[in-house]
This record gives sequence, C-alpha cells and structure tokens, in this order.
Amino acid sequence: MNALSSAAESSGDGIIDDPLFARIAADIYDTGYSVIRGALPATLTTLLSLSQAQLKKRDYSEAGIGRLAEHQTLSTIRNDEVCWIDGSTGGGKAWLNWTEGLRHYLNCHLFMGLFSFESHFAHYAPGHFYKRHYDAFKGRSNRVLSVVTYLNDDWQQDDGGELVLYQNNDDNRGVRVLPETGTLVVFLSEKFPHEVLPAARHRFSVAGWYRVNDSLNGRVDPPR
Ligand code: OGA
Ligand code: MN
Repeated sequence: MNALSSAAESSGDGIIDDPLFARIAADIYDTGYSVIRGALPATLTTLLSLSQAQLKKRDYSEAGIGRLAEHQTLSTIRNDEVCWIDGSTGGGKAWLNWTEGLRHYLNCHLFMGLFSFESHFAHYAPGHFYKRHYDAFKGRSNRVLSVVTYLNDDWQQDDGGELVLYQNNDDNRGVRVLPETGTLVVFLSEKFPHEVLPAARHRFSVAGWYRVNDSLNGRVDPPR
C-alpha cells in the first residue's frame, strides 16, 4: 500500500454510510453479490445525473473489451459508449468519494485488500447491449469487485435494458435487475457472468471495478 492510500485508510476519507455498507458486505460475504434498490443517497444520484447529462458526444468513446495490449472494440459483444471518471466533474468526484468509503469499509470488514478503483459513465442507445461476459478472468485481471449503478428515472419492465446476473456458467435464468436510478449492484468480478439486454430507451449507467495490487517483479499493475 502506498502512502497516499494508507493515509486515506486511516483518515476514513469518504462518506461513511454504515448500514448500507454493512448490508453490501453481508451480501458479498453470504452470496458474492448484492442488489439493492434505492441504495444510493439521493444527493449522489442527483450529482451523478447532472454530470452525466452535461457530457457531450465527444466526451464518450466506444467501449472496448480486454485490457492493455489486448484491448479491442467489438460491437458484436457490446456497443455502449463510455466516459471514464476522473473526478473532474462534481458527480464523478462524489462517486469516487462514496466508492472510496465502500472500499475502506470492505477492506476493514472483509479483508478484501481492495487497492484502487476505476469507473466510467456508460450510455446505451436504444437497441444497444452488452452480451454475456465476465468482468475478470482469474490470473488475467486484477479487477475483483464490480459495482454498477443507474441513472434512469421511471424505468419500466417494457423498457428492457435489464442487467442479468447469472450465478455461474451453467445458469441461464439469472437475476434480472431494472436499471432504475439509485439501484446498486455489487458482485465478485470473476464469479458472475452477466449481460445487458437491449434497451428500448437511452440507458445510463455507472460501472466501476475495485482492483487488487498485482505489481510484481518491477511490473506495476494496475498501471498508473
Ligand atoms: C459492464 C457491465 C452492466 C450494466 O460495463 O461491464 O456489465 O448494467 N455493465 O450497465
Ligand atoms: Mn460487466
């Protein structure tokens, strides 16, 4: 752990929201995933929505799959567009602060050793999707915990665009989640295949990944 992140750990930086964090931790411990409707504080979803709404077409880029040298864009697998969050917008800053609080909580209570976090806004235009995939493969990624939240008011069943979270490779039913504002989904990245069904409306989400520190033999991973 570097000096910066250890300072953040000990000062308990971030908004501490214990009952919610406790519920997420208990769910992760029990089942490996957590789906909570109306989880995010309204101030946070409002700030995120404002920042997302201010993004221009040029702020987004075509989403890709794979990492570093293997990174490629494959529109048969996914065709959303993404904008990485760097804390330069009010919503982005509030989200990074909140997820930092959750990181701290999970490290303290589940000893997960979560080291860093990366996150983006995503926009799925009508008809767009993200086919069934894992966010991480053992030994090939340091993403360990995925977090997704949504910025869509009054999302109806007919609007499609559900996240389907499968329990394992053999599960074809899954748990369906409507991408409604405030809903929070957290799951172990290597354990749960999942997909985004085509939406009938514009669909906005924020996805993020906690990473462990895999730096080894002079190779810095995650890259800085
Ligand atoms: C992802 C992802 C889910 C969603 O970006 O990897 O699975 O519901 N997103 O937007
Ligand atoms: Mn995913």
